Amino acid sequence: RHSPRVTVIGAGKVGSTLAQRIAEKNLADVVLLDVVEGMPRGLALDLMEARGIELHNRRIIGTTDYADTSDSDIVVITAGFPRKPGMTRDDLLLTNAKIVMEAANKSMSYSPDAIYIVVTNPLDVMTYLAWQATGLPRDRIMGMAGVLDSARFETFIAMELGVCSLDVKAMVLGSHGDLMVPLPRYATVNGIPITELLDAATIERLVQRTRNGGAEIVELMQTGSAFYTPASSTCVMVESILLNQSRLLPVAAYLQGEYGLNDIFTGVPCRLGSSGIEEIMELKLTDAEIDALHTCAHEVRKNITRAQEIFAAVS
Ligand code: APR
Repeated sequence: RHSPRVTVIGAGKVGSTLAQRIAEKNLADVVLLDVVEGMPRGLALDLMEARGIELHNRRIIGTTDYADTSDSDIVVITAGFPRKPGMTRDDLLLTNAKIVMEAANKSMSYSPDAIYIVVTNPLDVMTYLAWQATGLPRDRIMGMAGVLDSARFETFIAMELGVCSLDVKAMVLGSHGDLMVPLPRYATVNGIPITELLDAATIERLVQRTRNGGAEIVELMQTGSAFYTPASSTCVMVESILLNQSRLLPVAAYLQGEYGLNDIFTGVPCRLGSSGIEEIMELKLTDAEIDALHTCAHEVRKNITRAQEIFAAVS
């Protein structure tokens, strides 16, 4: 087979938008898999019918059968449910954990050499459980959150300064949630640190808006959560891997001593290339930044333990 293949598990908002981006950027053939009969096939056919207009020749296959995903280069897991009214956090944790672990295991049996990207929330916990369920080496399994959180931070900086988004670069580390660790010292406008351009109170306001970025959109949309930028953010990771671009992106990675953390997934700067995570870069951080990263890891650990306890109780 000449064309690379990306499987996207979960053909919901994030999954279907990601499939569209991958095909229309002409990066790979896409297999869209969901549990709902017919729906992924309908989406795939709809995407295929646009090929002549969008000028690409990538195949998009919709399916409910894991056999169709075989020999993928990358598997992205977006399957899961958002929290519904009446559902506790624990219910959601258990439901999504089961879905993600099953998706990872089933994909693994058809694509043992693929690189795995987890997108389902709560992100850092789901990535850990998928890693544990599959036993994948740490360079081939990662979570997407940091690119999204960084894109939000960059957007708010660009809006505040009235400058072009292309000129703003920022990195957000740590877990995906309220405790994330934006790094204003390392945020720049064409190389100029934002700490030279904005006062501390303004930066703090932008940091808070970034932390609340997902919730702000849920509140406005009412019936769903963000999917355009989550899909774009995942696509950038897919692209860096498929094209061996060596981009340095914040990625939820399994840590073994980096930043003083062990046996946990959290967002850190990673070089992404054809073999997956090719390097975890250890930045010089202040004590406060290190503390914030450790607080994230502590919270993720608590939720992993909680998920494992719930599993033990129901099995
Ligand atoms: N296998 C495959 N697909 C599944 C499974 C399963 N076991 N269980 C559920 N799904 C599918 C649903 O049928 C649905 O089509 O996962 C899809 C999820 O899509 P949406 O509900 O539209 O959710 P989306 O907005 O795409 O978000 C997906 O990404 O950003 C995160 O928090 C978000 O965890 C959520 C995930």
